[in-house]
Amino acid sequence: MNAPRLDPPLLALLDAEWQRLDHLVGCLSHQRAGQALGEAELARLRELQGQVELLRGPQGAWHAALGEQLSPIEIDVLVCALAPELEPRLGWAFQALQANAAQPWATRALIQELLALDATQAEWLRRALAPDGLLRRRRWIVLDQEDAYRPLQPDPSLVARLCGMPVEPAAPPGATEVKLVAGWHDLVLPPSRIAMLREYLMWIAHRDTVVGQWGGRAVGGPVGLFAGPSGTGKTFAASVIAQSLGWRLYRVDLGRLVSKYVGETEQNLNRLFDAAHGLPMVLQFDEADALFAKRGEVKEARDRYANMEVSHLLTRIEAHDGPCILTTNLRKQLDSAFTRRFQMVVEFPRPDAPARAELWRRLLPPQAPLAPEVTPEVLGDAVALSGGSIRNAALHAAYLAASQGASIGLPQLAHAIWRELAKEGRELALQDLGPLAAHLPEGLRDEH
Ligand SMILES: Nc1ncnc2c1ncn2[C@@H]1O[C@H](COP(=O)(O)OP(=O)(O)O)[C@@H](O)[C@H]1O
Ligand SMILES: [Mg+2]
Repeated sequence: MNAPRLDPPLLALLDAEWQRLDHLVGCLSHQRAGQALGEAELARLRELQGQVELLRGPQGAWHAALGEQLSPIEIDVLVCALAPELEPRLGWAFQALQANAAQPWATRALIQELLALDATQAEWLRRALAPDGLLRRRRWIVLDQEDAYRPLQPDPSLVARLCGMPVEPAAPPGATEVKLVAGWHDLVLPPSRIAMLREYLMWIAHRDTVVGQWGGRAVGGPVGLFAGPSGTGKTFAASVIAQSLGWRLYRVDLGRLVSKYVGETEQNLNRLFDAAHGLPMVLQFDEADALFAKRGEVKEARDRYANMEVSHLLTRIEAHDGPCILTTNLRKQLDSAFTRRFQMVVEFPRPDAPARAELWRRLLPPQAPLAPEVTPEVLGDAVALSGGSIRNAALHAAYLAASQGASIGLPQLAHAIWRELAKEGRELALQDLGPLAAHLPEGLRDEH
């Protein structure tokens, strides 16, 4: 699942697949012309069959490329769908075998004939191409209708992947991309938390070694729980993790995903996880406390239903073979029965004064002119803001200064912090600003 890519030399390994297909095409042409297959042709077919079996096993190129063990019939379908794209002579051959076809793609009917499938095998083929089959769920094969005469095309992302080109995944349904540029050096957290985040990253980055080579048990995930008040850097840390992998971060809106209609939630989940499977992405579920808070308190039937669904939701997240990060504001309510299910639980503390100073240092625009009395230490000591509030206040102060043609001074900072505190919606007192209170512009004091 580590964004598996096939090196171009591995692509050459698939040569045996093309040769076999070429041979099958030849055999079919003979048969259609009323000629029986000779012993030499059958022997050659067996030989090629033996070669492709090596590619198709658990150690083979297919498994390496797709991160998944496919059935022989599924691989046959993929080979036939990919052939016109990757081995054009086979595209022309398919076209010639399908009377009046205006395109080079094989249909299910042709594949059935090429592989000389009996009735049972033909049914496997039909199932391999059903909407709930792996090939369609992973979006490897494009097929808009089900009948036997539809041309089968490979999805462009599959072709790109097999050619070793970078995969540009689309946002999975129900998720939106978080675009944040963030590196480890931008994170202001106690060293112990940084260490935990790096260990979580390890679970993702070294999975191929531990599970693939050392036979470690393949649990889903890894699932990380980031707990802490709003604005303490949970999303920021998730971006750092995604970026150190060169992956994308997607935020999943649980509220949107969980439908009040029975069965729809299940469908939404399947769509989301199928689309994310095997792709280089980190999924972040916000306000995940809905997944495990107050589980004992079942009041009404409707609650009970909702409760059943959420416990299933957590199980489904755990089963996903890829990194998921759940975030929550509540730490206290999580009992260990839940936290034990996560590979990593990281608490995000409110920043202390030195951490706040560090945040101010990073979040004030680096080239902005600062008044001499403004230092990160003064600001860090003055008011206990979260990192998110510091980011907002730093920018607001910068805009105030820019609009006044001034440098960023204590009046602008007092003003900006006052606005930030007011967002919390509680009763404000001047002393909330600490030593900055003396600098709050007159007109603002009575507004709150
Ligand atoms: N610990 C932190 N280290 C660095 N920046 C932080 C930190 N906490 C908050 N920030 C800043 O505040 C912004 C909002 O934080 P965010 O990660 O969205 O918080 P959360 O997801 O916990 O609510 C971040 O984009 C970042 O600029
Ligand atoms: Mg967040």
